[in-house]
Amino acid sequence: MISVKGNSLFLGEIPAAELAGRFGTPVYAYDEETIRSKVRDLVQGIGYRPFRIFYAAKANTNLSILRLIREEGKGVVGIDAVSPGEIEVALKAGFKPVEIIFTSTSVTDEEMKFAILRKVLVNCDSLSQLERYGRLSPNSRVCFRVNPDVGAGHHGHVITGGPDSKFGIWAADVGKALDIAEKYNLAVVGIHEHIGSGILETEKFLTAMNVLLSIVEKNKARLQGLEFVDFGGGIGVPYRPDQKPIDFSRFGRAVSSLFEDFCGKFGRKLSLVIEPGRYLVAESGVLFCTVNTVKSTPKHRFVGVDTGFNHLIRPMAYGSYHPIVLVDNCNGSPREKVAVCGNICESGDVFTRNEEGIVDRELPVLKEGCVLAILVAGAYGFSMASTYNTRPRPPEVLVSGKNAKLIRKREDLKHVIYGM
Ligand SMILES: Cc1ncc(COP(=O)(O)O)c(C=O)c1O
Repeated sequence: MISVKGNSLFLGEIPAAELAGRFGTPVYAYDEETIRSKVRDLVQGIGYRPFRIFYAAKANTNLSILRLIREEGKGVVGIDAVSPGEIEVALKAGFKPVEIIFTSTSVTDEEMKFAILRKVLVNCDSLSQLERYGRLSPNSRVCFRVNPDVGAGHHGHVITGGPDSKFGIWAADVGKALDIAEKYNLAVVGIHEHIGSGILETEKFLTAMNVLLSIVEKNKARLQGLEFVDFGGGIGVPYRPDQKPIDFSRFGRAVSSLFEDFCGKFGRKLSLVIEPGRYLVAESGVLFCTVNTVKSTPKHRFVGVDTGFNHLIRPMAYGSYHPIVLVDNCNGSPREKVAVCGNICESGDVFTRNEEGIVDRELPVLKEGCVLAILVAGAYGFSMASTYNTRPRPPEVLVSGKNAKLIRKREDLKHVIYGM
């Protein structure tokens, strides 16, 4: 677990300062036990059976992390893949094709063929895609995504339901989707929705579940082959000190009983599927960095570190809050208000910010050489990292109790410079 002992940050049993010293900074480190406990929370917290989890691999696609999620969730956990690359990494991690769903958007025929050849179920995102899928693979199994006109999420960019969302088949067009399925003799085995990301209120899930289930109920006669209903991901985690985690026992009970009641009316048991990404990995991850500059303007005291939005884009992309601590003196004093900024050539490259701009953060007085930990960085951290400014991506390390192992090497310039 990640904890503060005697004012120092620990991952498992290893002091964070030791990890940063051993692997260098910037570096992403993940705590294995945190990920395992999140998988267990979900598997045990949702009582309804049959129940399946398709981990949304986009949150963190590191092969070692996929392997440990698979091991901990054996028989329940599969993968939600959004690209041929994610299908490939899921297969490499040992997931069977039947444990993978390809939730595609704006994909080519080639990308669909990639999934079809590997016997991975394709989740179609539009009527036109369904038509193309039918032509490519008639008489096969398919799933399609519905836009239920209900959306939620921590930021406008991640709200995926409603008329402003590019995702899914508009609810009123489900009849047309079933016409296409019938035309190509496709068995619709799954119906899917995903309304957004970073949701901390159970009610929002229940509202969207009810909408999707009423669509299923309405089209019951044409959904004789239905095997599962997939309600997507989106379970949030607290980033800010004032945010509370989702009440998980309530969530599990409410989701299970809603689905149980529905299946009673539907006349047979279907599988309940959810697709969490962030929930399983966010809190396990830390991005360590080292302070290399401290300077002031009349407005801010800037603390510059050796990483930036090329490695963790969430503050820049969504104004997201990430807790930051000084690893070997977490609650130290004296303290001062600073703007922690990165090494990328853009003014927006500030970790302590919201959507409008810089929000200074109170931290112990920092000087060059101090090691900071940017917390809750396990989801959409490395997986969204880039080589912008021709800077290589950092390594990744997995901590298990007293042991730490490198699970992705630090890139160097030959990974970044084409033709080098
Ligand atoms: C289709 C789908 N499922 C699941 C997820 C996972 O969302 P989260 O990480 O918020 O659980 C996403 C996120 O973008 C998604 O697009």
